[in-house]
Amino acid sequence: MSSPQENTPEVAATVPEASSSSTPAVPETATVPLPATVPAPATTTTTAPVLAPGPTNLVPDDADDLDSALGDVGSLNSGETSIGSSIFGYRQENGRTYHAYKDGIKSTHFHVKATTMGIMLILRVEYMYPNDGLEQDRLDHLSETFKLYLDGKLHMCVFDKEKKIQSVLDVGTGTGVWAMGYGEEHPEAKVLGVDLSPIQPNFWPPNVKFQIDDAEDLWTYSHKFDFIYSRVLMGSLQNWVQYFMQAFENLTPGGYIETTDVCFPIRSDDGTLKPDSALAQWSDLILEASAKIGRAINSAELYHGQMQEAGFVDIVENVDFWPLNQWMEDPKYKEIGIRNTENLVSGISGLSMALFTRVHGWSMEEVEVFLVNVRKDIMDTSIHSYIPLRTIYGRTPSQVSEN
Ligand SMILES: C[S@@+](CC[C@H](N)C(=O)[O-])C[C@H]1O[C@@H](n2cnc3c(N)ncnc32)[C@H](O)[C@@H]1O
Repeated sequence: MSSPQENTPEVAATVPEASSSSTPAVPETATVPLPATVPAPATTTTTAPVLAPGPTNLVPDDADDLDSALGDVGSLNSGETSIGSSIFGYRQENGRTYHAYKDGIKSTHFHVKATTMGIMLILRVEYMYPNDGLEQDRLDHLSETFKLYLDGKLHMCVFDKEKKIQSVLDVGTGTGVWAMGYGEEHPEAKVLGVDLSPIQPNFWPPNVKFQIDDAEDLWTYSHKFDFIYSRVLMGSLQNWVQYFMQAFENLTPGGYIETTDVCFPIRSDDGTLKPDSALAQWSDLILEASAKIGRAINSAELYHGQMQEAGFVDIVENVDFWPLNQWMEDPKYKEIGIRNTENLVSGISGLSMALFTRVHGWSMEEVEVFLVNVRKDIMDTSIHSYIPLRTIYGRTPSQVSEN
């Protein structure tokens, strides 16, 4: 194992803003999945995913909604700020800090889409979750849960033995745990972790690098990658079609992609999660708010088709269910549930605050009062709640003839 080195993350060269596509991350048509009575163990499918109900209208309902969506954001930087100040000067709001790099609304971030329901105005607002110490602890805790879930492995896809994985990209690396883990396990590979926030540690293995960059910009890497990974980026990207297309372009022939995400709404299959419960309402409200800003947190339902559209082959989708507390009997899933309770009970305020205050227009106090009962529901083992977890992987064709 290589010894760690001290470093500072690089800042990507400023490149032109990628133009927003007209394809929203939410399904425009939705069909209702038929859940089993008890969540079945992980299912793997290579067929197109079934879509769950999701918001279909991204137009702010009325001027008030638009105002509240703009609300505090109006006080953000209205254009480009210098890289130095924008990266390291975090935005502070309601007692939390948020990334400053590329924060805010820019005029180019509106786009209009014509639908059967009329004209749709899509508002681009940046990543809505904090980047402070509390959130970093939550991400590190979540990394441990993924380790448990994957039995110590770092990804699901199995590489072809002939394919040498020498260059790896971790998009939205967060605290960099995955990138550093991969680098330590594979000293022969070079790993690049990119993120909007400079929240990676000061020491990392010599074959790992971090860079502050916006994955929604045009990718201008000087070389191609053999493996592009991302984990829990739902709510991060507005245009997943563009993400998969850029990933395809930036992979070597036969190169792999893997994307894993939780996928709202929270459900139960036995009616124990009542629609009027605080937890179900929270799940609906947070999904609605994320859809209003064009970053719907059910985006993973579309990844399979979007990967296909981008040209990936041998696509596999694994759909699993993460319990929110210890209600499941299976020891591994019980442990995952215990960990999810810890993670959510401490992290739910950060996950909710910007979406509820900026988009729904609630006050911080209203959000905190509401979350008291949401936390109670999360911990209530008579409620058999779970959140779907979708992992989708595939590869680029090895030769032109495979395409
Ligand atoms: C929920 S965290 C997941 C972090 C990490 N992948 C993990 O599994 O611990 C999402 C991360 O994506 C980053 N992010 C969000 N939007 C991004 C963008 N457009 N470009 C690069 N990083 C982004 C956020 O700053 C955050 O660190």
